[in-house]
Order: sequence, then C-alpha cells, then structure tokens
Amino acid sequence: MHFPVHLLALFIPFLLPTSLISVNAQTCENYGTANAGQCACPTGFGGPTCALPGCHSTIFDGAQRQFASTSGTGSAALANLTAAGCACEAGWGGTGCNVCQSSSACQTAFAAAKGSSASPDISSAGAVQNGTMVCNTEPRVWAAGQMSCQVINPTLQAIFSGQSTLNIERTLDPGLSPLPGSTSFGAKSSVSAQLFYDGVEQFYCHADSCAQTLASNSTKWECQNLQCTCRPGTTFCGGAPASDLTGAINGLSGALGIDCAAIDAGTGKAPCHFVQSTLQSLFGSAGLGLDGCAFGECVRQSVIDAGGGAAADPAQTVESSKLSGGVIAGLVVVGVLVLLALALLLVGLLRQRAARRDGNRDLDKAHVGVEWKGLSYMVPSARNFFTRQAQGSSEDKTILDNITGRVNSRQMMAILGPSGAGKTTLVEILAGKNKVGVTTGSVSFPSQSGKTVESALRPSPAQQPNNNQHHRATPGLALPLPHCLLPRLPDAENLLTPPATSPASPQPT
Ligand SMILES: *[C@@H]1O[C@H](CO)[C@@H](O)[C@H](O)[C@H]1NC(C)=O
Ligand SMILES: *[C@@H]1O[C@H](CO)[C@@H](O)[C@H](O)[C@H]1NC(C)=O
Ligand SMILES: *[C@@H]1O[C@H](CO)[C@@H](O)[C@H](O)[C@H]1NC(C)=O
Repeated sequence: MHFPVHLLALFIPFLLPTSLISVNAQTCENYGTANAGQCACPTGFGGPTCALPGCHSTIFDGAQRQFASTSGTGSAALANLTAAGCACEAGWGGTGCNVCQSSSACQTAFAAAKGSSASPDISSAGAVQNGTMVCNTEPRVWAAGQMSCQVINPTLQAIFSGQSTLNIERTLDPGLSPLPGSTSFGAKSSVSAQLFYDGVEQFYCHADSCAQTLASNSTKWECQNLQCTCRPGTTFCGGAPASDLTGAINGLSGALGIDCAAIDAGTGKAPCHFVQSTLQSLFGSAGLGLDGCAFGECVRQSVIDAGGGAAADPAQTVESSKLSGGVIAGLVVVGVLVLLALALLLVGLLRQRAARRDGNRDLDKAHVGVEWKGLSYMVPSARNFFTRQAQGSSEDKTILDNITGRVNSRQMMAILGPSGAGKTTLVEILAGKNKVGVTTGSVSFPSQSGKTVESALRPSPAQQPNNNQHHRATPGLALPLPHCLLPRLPDAENLLTPPATSPASPQPT
C-alpha cells in the first residue's frame, strides 16, 4: 500500500513539466484542476490557466476577482504584480492580497461576495451569520489559512538580489472555509506554495498528508509528497541562464515541513522555515528561512469553537498511523533491546570495576595474613589407599598432627625441620595444593584489621579423602591468593626454608 505512493511521488516531478509543455490538453498552472475545459484555480490565482495572481479585490471574489495582467506574449507572458501596480484593499495584505488583517475585512468581503449573483457557492453560504466571521492572524490553521513571507537567505540573495516572497496556503478542511473554492482550495490536509521574485511568480509547490502540530509557541506543519514546478522563462527557471534552478526546483520531493515560531507581539508577524531535505542541504538544517510571515484566515467563529479541521485526512491518517504504528513498534523493540544490551554491558563494566577496586583495596589495605588451626594431614597406607578402605585405620600415616600457627601480613616465617618432618606438606596445604591424603583443620587469611577476608575451611574428617574443597568451595581471595603470591616467589619451600638453615628435604611421601 505504501510502496506505490512512494513510486508516484518519485515520478510526479518528472511527469508534470512534460504535461505542461503539451499544447492541446488543458493545462492548469499552480496545480489547478482541469474541469470541463476550465481550470479551477488555487486561492489567489485565476485566468485561463491559473497563471495570474490576484491583484486588488479579495479571495472571496474567487474567479471573479481582479488579477494582474500579463506583459508580453506567448510563453514569455508573465504577470508582474509590481508592474501591474497592484494595491490591496483595506484590511488585506501579503503578495497578491490574500492575507486578511482584520475580522471586519473578512466580514465586509464575505458580505460583498454574498451579494454577488455570480458565484453559486455564495447563496448556500448565506445562512451563516456574517457577524461570526473572524480573521485568525495566528500561525495556527482552523480550516484554510493564507500566509505570506519574505524569503531572507544570503545564498539566494547572492544569486538573485531582488525581493523574494513566498505565499503559502495551508488547508486543513476546505469545507469549513467560508467560501470553499474561493477562500480555500485543494484537498484536506494539503499545502500549496508559490515563490514570487520581484513581483513575478517563479515556481509553485504542493504537498499533502499534512499534520499540524501545535506547541506553546510554535506551529508545525509536516507534509508528504512534495512536488514543485518551475515556471519556464522566469528568472529562477532559465530567465537568467547562468543561474537556472529548474532542475533543482522540479526535483524537490519528499517530506515538507513548515515550522513557524510564535507571533511577535510588536509586528504581528512570525519567522518560519520551509524545511525540505534538498533545501536543508543547500541552506542548512533549518531549511529555507522565511521572515516576517503574515498569517490571515477568514473563518467562522463557530468553526474555531468546534475545534477546527482534523489534523489529517482520516483515510490517510488510518493508513499512515497503521504503517507508522508498525514501524514505531519495531523501532521500540529494537530500541529496548539495544538499551537492554547497553545496560547489561554497563552493569557488567561497573561490577568489574567495582570488584577490581574492592579487590585492590582489600589487598592494599587489609594486609592479609595466613592462619591455620588444628591442621592435620594423614595419608592412607598403601593397602588402604588401593582397597579404598575406610580411613582412620591404624595403618594410616599422620604427616601433620594438629598444627596451629599464624603469619601476619608483612611478616616472614621460616619453617625448619629435618627431612620428612612435613615442611613441604604444610606449605602445600597452606597454598591449597591438591593432596591425596585427608586434611583436617582450617586455614584462613585474616586481615590486619582483624576481619578475616576469606576463610578457607578444611574438609571435615568426615569428608572423603582427595575431596579438596579448598579451591572450589572458597571463591574470592582464597582462590587467587596462592596463585597470585606463589608465582612471584621462585620457590615457596626454599623461601620458607632457606638453604642456609635447612638442608633440602625430600618429599615426605
Ligand atoms: C516586475 O516589474 C518591476 C517594475 O516594472 C520590475 O522592476 C521587476 O524587475 C519586474 N520583475 C521581474 C521578475 O522581471
Ligand atoms: C453583516 O452584513 C450586513 C450586510 O449584509 C451588514 O449590514 C452588517 O453590518 C454585517 N454585520 C457585521 C457585524 O459586520
Ligand atoms: C517558548 O515559550 C517559553 C515560555 O512559554 C519561552 O521560555 C521560550 O523561550 C519560548 N521559545 C521560543 C523559541 O520563543
């Protein structure tokens, strides 16, 4: 469903110029709609092909209003508002006089149009009280609003030093406008814009699927399917060959944003931005800057009271909300997963760092010693060992018998004894080395502060021989300590039993 719309948006800019060139077919400029050999023109435009901008009179006069006449002939015929000497009626302003300035101007114009018999729309609108008509001069649109801005951009002015102005008609719901077809044009939630340079229209644009977003001091319009058409022979579009923007303008497409700030209380005007990706690449992320935008919308008070037009065409809203709902759901899932992964990573890093810090702190500050209590070590007799008889038989050989001792931190202890006294066995048990015999008693690593950092309890006598719990049952310091410390010492036994005071002792077993 979505795909063909995109395809269409891609092709429209290329199709339109060719359709304009064709002579036989009815062609309407400014995206007017051909109807029975006549062009229905956007608000503020008229003439056989909608090429003529309004000049004097008001938008309520529709096709009957006065338009600026063309100068020149054929394809060079371009209406020049400046040359035509157009002057707006009291209470109207903007390029082409489409922007109301006061509620009384709306009421007067509406009453005048109502009295005219030329437009069939007017009699049906006659039921509405003229006294309820107001001119909304805020950036917000209720039904269909006109705006007119100066284009102030250094890049543009370096090429075209004259005065550029942009007219924009934003339509939420044309049916809610006082005189649909005159004071409004086009579909719901659409926008059309025309750029004038020194009084001559250079190009026009159109977009649809618009959504109006209101904030405390800004009004945003976000539209889709932008298309623009350069008017051949104008200054921007080949009239000045060195700076022909035809390709760039006809290529404008995609999303269009019209962002307006709050009205300045002093001037009654506001700055806006015309935001589109190509314009952003040319003029910066804010897009094409518009200055001194004047807003005017003749609208019944009852429409305002009822909340105005919908934000978007319901059909398009449903489709786009379905699509965007799916996309948003997908993005949310991906986002949550990514956040989760990041959070886990962060937690892991923090824990690792904390553990390292704690470990370092313990090692640095605690000054761990070694203490052993009631340490005994027995090896079963060769026969019992092989027949796996119950331990504790009289034939078992006791290597260490209930030894208790302590080495404080920063102390060194020498273990002296004759060959076979069990020096090596004691050191190996303190280091947590796996032994075949039965070890009882306890080995702990008390810190200097008196707090035992990690205690390594020996297996109780009831436990199986060879069941060395020392490594597996004691996490933390008990594990790393022997491995951290012993490798630094060339030979634990030699250090503890220096050769000078003790002869090399063979293994007790
Ligand atoms: C429109 O007419 C005015 C006055 O004659 C002239 O200065 C201006 O250059 C014309 N605009 C263009 C785009 O030719
Ligand atoms: C409404 O229009 C009538 C003419 O049709 C006019 O006399 C009257 O003053 C208008 N009311 C207001 C409030 O402008
Ligand atoms: C918008 O309004 C708030 C207060 O309502 C103000 O602090 C802030 O500066 C305004 N922002 C702009 C861009 O004007």
